[in-house]
Amino acid sequence: MSKAARPAYRCGECGWTTAKWVGRCGECQAWGTVEEAGARQGVHVVKPGAVTAPAVPIGQVKAETAHARPTGVAELDRVLGGGLVPGAVVLLAGEPGIGKSTLLLEAAARTAQHETVLYVTGEESASQVRMRADRIGAIEDGLYLAAETDLAALVAHVEKVQPRLLIVDSVQTIGSADATGVPGGVTQVREVAGNLVRLAKERGISTVLVGHVTKDGTIAGPRVLEHLVDVVLQFEGDRNSRLRMVRAAKNRFGPIEEVGCFDLHERGITGISDPSGLFVSRHPEPVPGTCVTVTIEGTRPIPAELQALVGPTEAPQPRRTSSGLDSYRVAMVLAVMERRLNAKIGKCDVFTATVGGIRLTDPAVDLALMLSVVSAAGDKALPAGMVVLGEVGLAGELRAVRDVRRRLAEASRLGFTRALVPAGSLANDTPRLEPPKSRGGLVAVREPASRTTNFAPGFDVTEVENVWDALAHVR
Ligand SMILES: Nc1ncnc2c1ncn2[C@@H]1O[C@H](COP(=O)(O)OP(=O)(O)OP(=O)(O)O)[C@@H](O)[C@H]1O
Ligand SMILES: [Mg+2]
Repeated sequence: MSKAARPAYRCGECGWTTAKWVGRCGECQAWGTVEEAGARQGVHVVKPGAVTAPAVPIGQVKAETAHARPTGVAELDRVLGGGLVPGAVVLLAGEPGIGKSTLLLEAAARTAQHETVLYVTGEESASQVRMRADRIGAIEDGLYLAAETDLAALVAHVEKVQPRLLIVDSVQTIGSADATGVPGGVTQVREVAGNLVRLAKERGISTVLVGHVTKDGTIAGPRVLEHLVDVVLQFEGDRNSRLRMVRAAKNRFGPIEEVGCFDLHERGITGISDPSGLFVSRHPEPVPGTCVTVTIEGTRPIPAELQALVGPTEAPQPRRTSSGLDSYRVAMVLAVMERRLNAKIGKCDVFTATVGGIRLTDPAVDLALMLSVVSAAGDKALPAGMVVLGEVGLAGELRAVRDVRRRLAEASRLGFTRALVPAGSLANDTPRLEPPKSRGGLVAVREPASRTTNFAPGFDVTEVENVWDALAHVR
């Protein structure tokens, strides 16, 4: 038997091919995704077929008149770019137990005050959802509930209820008799999502699908799911804190830079419109090992405290543990301190953390991280009421960061009185990219001299040329 005639198998998830069938893809490690691929040889010449509609000049195409309709949950609407667009399909992905069903039940109840909403639960029984609705106060006449795991039955419910908003919790629990595999498997998820997208577009129903994430944080099921839907929202949070954040990973209707902040509590979920102040601990006196910086989450500047603990160890491998920070970034800053600043931390355990469960990925926090470690190592506190901004490079150089004025204005609003920033930060604050109101696309705009970029008179800004100058402020 020639090599070319051997049956070929292909992973439906990543496209990896193999000559022998295997249960688990050798590339993406997904289970049950490898299927026999029709052996194709050569390229078929395609003949012209029937068209759906003739191609016309773009100016003559009727633009969609649909506008986003607010869900009533302001922080969710903020991330969605105003609300849900009719016919739009949103995928809300998050770890188990993070609060997806709670958030969507809240949004469903708010929307049901003026429109019909159908909530399909495949994961919990109707009475379980009813109990949650009682707990969070989500009982509305316009909110219909169905416990269903079959796609055909789900479509029948849609026919009957005629909702303007459909919530499917979760897409992985719904199965279709027309597709092979088990619900949650690649083929099933693709079939279910494909049908729901078509239904949404045909009827103009805004649809929200709940999606599970795998251990490594990616959305379970085929990647095609992310391509099929219009908006992908990620629901994040630390289990040990009540803070939850929703951010858009993809949005066909608006920018993806916004972040929604929520407080998950026993009576439901509440949006936090002003999250500043949640991530700093108010010490009456300056404490060694702490340093406050200002990060940008979406378009919001948020002061955040960094804490460090440094102690000598006899262990051959000192511990480097960080919580709420990118461990690669922490390792880099510590390496720069050892090599460029001659800091004697090679034989020390270094623990670093943020306050209040925030995750900091903004490089502007580098200098604050460095100063918190220096402050902890020397047991010397930074001046009271100070915020620190600056990115640290591998050569030990200090780099400017964007939106310095807005960050400092927010720090000033919260009562901070001084700041340490890279030299030249105020003179040439980098322009911010912002979508203009009337047209699409991105244009660079200079920050207007508005209230949001002004800090209080007497707010003391010290510009430093390099990290050595910055270290002089730890006394
Ligand atoms: N009776 C209760 N009192 C207080 N908090 C509760 C109560 N029941 C649930 N919670 C909180 O709500 C969280 C679960 O919320 P929810 O069921 O909305 O999460 P989920 O993301 O939909 O989970 P799953 O992945 O299991 O569907 C729990 O982790 C818990 O913190
Ligand atoms: Mg749930």
